[in-house]
Formats: sequence, C-alpha cells, structure tokens
Amino acid sequence: MSKILDMKNITKIYEMGSEKVVALDNVSISINTGEFVTILGPSGSGKSTLMNIIGCLDTPTKGEYILSDKKVAGLNEKELANIRNKEIGFIFQSFQLLPKLTAAKNVELPLIYAGVNLNRRKEISREILSKVGLGDKANNLPTQLSGGQQQRVAIARAISTEPSILLADEPTGALDQETGIKILELFKELNKEGRTIIMITHDKSIAQYGDRILNIVDGKITESGEFYDKR
Ligand SMILES: Nc1ncnc2c1ncn2[C@@H]1O[C@H](COP(=O)(O)OP(=O)(O)O)[C@@H](O)[C@H]1O
Ligand SMILES: [Mg+2]
Repeated sequence: MSKILDMKNITKIYEMGSEKVVALDNVSISINTGEFVTILGPSGSGKSTLMNIIGCLDTPTKGEYILSDKKVAGLNEKELANIRNKEIGFIFQSFQLLPKLTAAKNVELPLIYAGVNLNRRKEISREILSKVGLGDKANNLPTQLSGGQQQRVAIARAISTEPSILLADEPTGALDQETGIKILELFKELNKEGRTIIMITHDKSIAQYGDRILNIVDGKITESGEFYDKR
C-alpha cells in the first residue's frame, strides 16, 4: 500500500507571552492510501492542532510532515494554500456552507478555484449531490435543509475536487444520534470506494467507525495500529 501521509516527531508549541503550551508532543503518524483512520481524544488533547497541521492550515514547530510525497513543514502561506486545495477535503462540525448559495453552488465552489468550467461544474455537482442522497435538493439554500442534509452538502463539496484525504473534525457533533450514524455510514461508503478518511472525535463509539484508531492524550499519540476487524 502506498503512504499518503507521513509525520515524524511533530511538535507544536504555542507561546503566549512567557507561557508555552506543548499542544503536540513528538507525534509520529503514518497513513496509507485508502485507510479510514480516526483520531480519538478528550477536549484539550491536541486534536484541532493536529487537524490544522494535517490539513496544512498551520505548520509545526518541529518535525517532518510529508503529504502525497510533498514536504509540508517549512512551506509558506501560498504554498500551503496550494497543497491544501489540492490534497484536502475539509468537513467541519458546523458544516460551514455559504448561506446565500444553493446546495449545488456550494458544491461547485472548490471547482471554481480549481479552474473547472461552468458546464463541467454543474455536471459534477449534480452527480455528487445525487451520490450523497440529495439529487432533489440541488437548488435549496442551506436554511432550507436539515442539519444532516447540510452536512451531506458539505461532504459533497469536500469530495468534488477528489482530494487525496477527507479530513473531518467532529462531523456528527451538531447532529442527533440517528442522523449522525447515517453520516458515518456515508463515510464508510466513500471509504469503500477508495477514499482516504481521517476523522477526529472525542467520542469512542464514533471512533469505532474507522478501521484504525489513534488515541491522543496531552498532545501524544498513545496507541496506534489498533485495527478492528469488521467482518
Ligand atoms: N492558538 C492557540 N494558542 C495557545 N494555545 C492554544 C492554541 N490553540 C490550542 N491551544 C492549546 O493547545 C492545547 C490543545 O488544544 P486543541 O488542539 O484545541 O485540543 P482539542 O481540539 O483536542 O480540544 C490546549 O491546551 C489548548 O489550550
Ligand atoms: Mg478541538
């Protein structure tokens, strides 16, 4: 299997005046293409810091990070933005859809940045919205959709440019349990089709949906390589 992500001894220190917070402490993670990995840890353990670094939104204080064979540590803002747009599809707890755009236009947005022409954009958004079960909601605004439907639009948007990794931060955190489970099942389906997924959560029952759980406590990965056999 080919490696999509390789982190070695990643440390992130936040400095606030004279105080230093070690948010990540020598984190080493390796993820293969096609894996569904969950990162499980309590509040304050460093999950968001790790997500920001994985997603090329921030750079580590120390350590080496290779994403799709490219070195990330040390890149400037513009280079980070480029690698982020190409390699990462983000899914957030709060969906983060643009409220004035229809579902279809929200899905098309990353395709505009990627330089895809209008006809092709429409084609892709229609196709992907059907894929996530919203073929009939393309012209709805986010306010005209339920929470679960909004998260499906956000997932459609995240996969529209076919990024190397889907990176989800507490994707079911704002949803009721039943709706959340349907979203997790959609992730499983997308993973079965070959997409690499990294999902961050504080909830063990949600983390079980991944094939491998990385536990994070006090900025340290305490356990790795825990595989679950789902058969
Ligand atoms: N921008 C920041 N400046 C200073 N400290 C921060 C910053 N972001 C996070 N921290 C600290 O780093 C630690 C990890 O935070 P975070 O990554 O947000 O954890 P989690 O997402 O697991 O709740 C916490 O102690 C938090 O207070
Ligand atoms: Mg967090």
